[in-house]
Amino acid sequence: MIGIIGGYGAAGAQAARLLYGWGAGPLRVGGRSVERARRFVAAEMPSGEAEAVAVDVDDAASLAAFVRGCDVVLHCAGPSHRTAERVAYAALIAGAHHVDAGGGERLEAIGMAAGGRSAVFAAGALPGLSGLLPRWLAATDFDAVHGLTAYTGVLDRFTAIGAEDYLHGVLGGSNEALAQWQDGCRRPGALTRRAGVELAFFPRPVSAFPYVDSEGERLAYDLKLIEGRWYTVLDGAHLGTALDAARVLDRTEAIAGLCRATALDVAGRTPYVTYLLQLDGTASGRPVTRTAVLRAPGIAQLTGAVAAVAALAALHGEVPGGAHCAATALDPLAAVDRLRKVPELCELTVFDGALDELSMAEEGAL
Ligand SMILES: NC(=O)c1ccc[n+]([C@@H]2O[C@H](COP(=O)([O-])OP(=O)(O)OC[C@H]3O[C@@H](n4cnc5c(N)ncnc54)[C@H](OP(=O)(O)O)[C@@H]3O)[C@@H](O)[C@H]2O)c1
Repeated sequence: MIGIIGGYGAAGAQAARLLYGWGAGPLRVGGRSVERARRFVAAEMPSGEAEAVAVDVDDAASLAAFVRGCDVVLHCAGPSHRTAERVAYAALIAGAHHVDAGGGERLEAIGMAAGGRSAVFAAGALPGLSGLLPRWLAATDFDAVHGLTAYTGVLDRFTAIGAEDYLHGVLGGSNEALAQWQDGCRRPGALTRRAGVELAFFPRPVSAFPYVDSEGERLAYDLKLIEGRWYTVLDGAHLGTALDAARVLDRTEAIAGLCRATALDVAGRTPYVTYLLQLDGTASGRPVTRTAVLRAPGIAQLTGAVAAVAALAALHGEVPGGAHCAATALDPLAAVDRLRKVPELCELTVFDGALDELSMAEEGAL
């Protein structure tokens, strides 16, 4: 039994649909409204392999009743930074594996409670696939890598819960703006924000905000990177302005501001998630540079799919015991392979050469 908390929300519904389609059931779909859960199950899961159950993660008894009997609990309710630990402990105490579309803090403490079971956090698009994709490219095309340049852009509406977690990720925790990875450590202030940047596969000039976070840092250690540069790409002026304003607003206003800004940025445009990832290294003893491009139609679709892939891996015993982030817990080859097979989810292409060459080739083609 896989229990999906927030299973009729934006990311949770996508995860639930995929798990149902893969025959991973029985499924239990929950949120605070049993009516909405029932409607979702009746409309999308007609085989009788899924049940609708009310759950409120803020109520310990309700949470304990929901996770009872589950083999895997998938937490898509958020906001993860406030609820991830509580839900993880409830799942692990009930003897289930745990997967969360967000979260990823205090892994050591949760790992101690996990026993032989696994708890997987940050199983979403960003963080999540953003850490898996470089591992996939490194394992597919290289013997060793030393340099990484990554641009990740999301043009999509944020839900209030998604906005709250995004804000926590950007303003709190491990995120360091303007830093890059160099020779084994973060270099604060090494890079600058850039506006009007023309990037291949982005439909308009964009703004690029450099940062290093704990996902990138872990990746740099694991791949033995000498140099790493990560950029958040913003397409439209509103989200950047709302993020600047969020630093001085109270949380409720800041979240509302982010939701408004993403709605304005996406108005009249086609939503997307695009990753551009360049790795420099060696293959068969020769210097090699390759660039992967992954494009998906929206943040909830991609996050739900990554969460579903992680839940399936946990169900099949493919995740080691203890607490991890999805980027290190999942086999990148198997995970990316599963994602590529989801109809109309993503397009992944690898090019020989650097990102700059790709931009020139695209201009040439135009
Ligand atoms: N890593 C990434 O790239 C990424 C991207 C997007 C989202 N996420 C994460 O995915 C999670 C879900 O986001 P979303 O955009 O799908 O949000 P959403 O559309 O608002 O869905 C939230 C779901 O959780 C339920 N819920 C809310 N409060 C609850 C509570 N106290 N107890 C039980 N259920 C509750 C909601 O139903 P009711 O309100 O009826 O209870 C709804 O079904 C968040 O943690 C978010 O940060 C991660």
